[in-house]
Amino acid sequence: MLEHDVVIVGGGLAGCRAAVEIARTEPGLNIAVVAKTHPIRSHSVAAQGGIAATLKNVDDADSWEAHAFDTVKGSDYLADQDAVALLTQEAPNVVIDLEHMGVLFSRLDDGRIAQRAFGGHSHRRTCYAADKTGHAILHELVNNLRRYGVTIYDEWYVMRLILEEGAAKGIVMYRIEDGEIRVVRAKAVMFGTGGYGRVFNTTSNDFASTGDGLAMAAMAGLPLEDMEFVQFHPTGLYPVGVLISEAVRGEGAYLKNAAGDRFMATYAPSRMELAPRDITSRAIATEIRQGRGIHPDGSAGGPFVHLDLRHMGKEKIMSRVPFAWEEAHRLVGVDAVHQPMPVRPTAHYSMGGIPVNTRGQVRSSADGLVEGFYAAGECACVSVHGANRLGSNSLLECVVYGKLTGSAIASDVPKRKFPEVDEGRYLREAKQQIQELLDRSGENRINSVRQALQDAMTEYCGVFRTEELMRQGIEKLGELQQQAQNVYLDDKNQLWNTEIVEALELQSLIVVAQTILTSALNRQESRGAHFREDFPQRDDENFLKHTLAYYSPAGIDLATMPVVINMFEPKERKY
Ligand code: FUM
Repeated sequence: MLEHDVVIVGGGLAGCRAAVEIARTEPGLNIAVVAKTHPIRSHSVAAQGGIAATLKNVDDADSWEAHAFDTVKGSDYLADQDAVALLTQEAPNVVIDLEHMGVLFSRLDDGRIAQRAFGGHSHRRTCYAADKTGHAILHELVNNLRRYGVTIYDEWYVMRLILEEGAAKGIVMYRIEDGEIRVVRAKAVMFGTGGYGRVFNTTSNDFASTGDGLAMAAMAGLPLEDMEFVQFHPTGLYPVGVLISEAVRGEGAYLKNAAGDRFMATYAPSRMELAPRDITSRAIATEIRQGRGIHPDGSAGGPFVHLDLRHMGKEKIMSRVPFAWEEAHRLVGVDAVHQPMPVRPTAHYSMGGIPVNTRGQVRSSADGLVEGFYAAGECACVSVHGANRLGSNSLLECVVYGKLTGSAIASDVPKRKFPEVDEGRYLREAKQQIQELLDRSGENRINSVRQALQDAMTEYCGVFRTEELMRQGIEKLGELQQQAQNVYLDDKNQLWNTEIVEALELQSLIVVAQTILTSALNRQESRGAHFREDFPQRDDENFLKHTLAYYSPAGIDLATMPVVINMFEPKERKY
């Protein structure tokens, strides 16, 4: 059996930042990062617009308290305010630390880190590397992993979290290259496994964002928190759904409908294109629904609106948002210097996830913790985003809570012994699971079940939700779960059998989708990104609380957890 003091699942920003912190604090610990892609291909690399921090390089009046207030207001008051205070106080330190590691941030003329405007932020505080910020940060962190001697298992798919008697003891992992299965025991397991955008048919997320970490935690009997809150980014490129960064609007681009009107004046007059994402996405979806969207031939009534950069000029477009220009040019043939880009909302981010405290320790219930199990980044819910995340707070969360979780692990692990793990049992069960997939003589293709699931989630649990729609969605998911038991694999080999991985991912997608729908049906109010047409108002009296969803194949049980409110009393949210 393999053993490491610490095993981190996920090679994105949160996992890598945690690994660096552990190595810096306790250099003697034996740390491994396990990832189903190479770490520099993790989805963090696709983060574009920037990382928020009150460096005050362009705005002296900014403060961590203002950043905290914007974040809490943006969250529609569902964020835990103790976690938000830590996030915003630590932000300048982690950005300077990244700079010292070598991250190439864009600069002001005087050499200090440049900062731009972003949606829902009251000051210009988003630090950036053009519109490739995730790429710049992740590459430097991965270089640091190598410097600290962290073992990297890349292209290993983690099949199972070993959780016994309330303690995490290790993982079971599958090597995609040749089908080898290994059990790893560890004194601490951390998940930084990212989100689940692939639950929806239009998403900014990469193919690997299938919610595996969330599903593994749920299948081990742990709760998932606030899964009803799914962020739809306002500007997915039509029709492909890839991200056109909010940085484009931060640098001055306009959203326009078929009449050429800057329609955000109707929805958020004080913030216009830089309103928070929930409001902007609903505004775009409303324009499209009410016939003011645009067709590819330019006529009204179509499925997208325009993001117009033309007034910004070529020099600014090419220096500040070159990647956005390149995406539109390469993928849909639009030259944004001369033509508006077609955009519509796209599934982007999970506000909910595996519940954790501010040390990154995973909760087993509202007041219990799992021994030796930690999580950070998009897969986790420390609840700094509540019901709606502000742009550029997610890279920040990965780096701040990656660091804090790494620090907690470094202090806890030296006190722990290696757990006893029955390697034979876990190997046997994993081999049986793979063999059972290979032996299936079912009639459904993985791809068609997955596509039907993504279409159902988009139709029944998208930007606008009702009880009737969601009940239809739950019924449809039940049918798809049956069909998923009956998928067959064309490839029966062990070498590079990506169909095995896809079959395992399909299971993750179904568990996550069921949890989202059940949590969303239960929340009979509208808050942040969760908009119920049948309950259009926020209802603090009955729903100012977190949802905890406990999955089992027989059904999902729901519980609640209080929200930490110690700085800002909930108010009506207006922009
Ligand atoms: O629009 C963007 O560049 C995305 C940033 C984020 O999700 O924080």
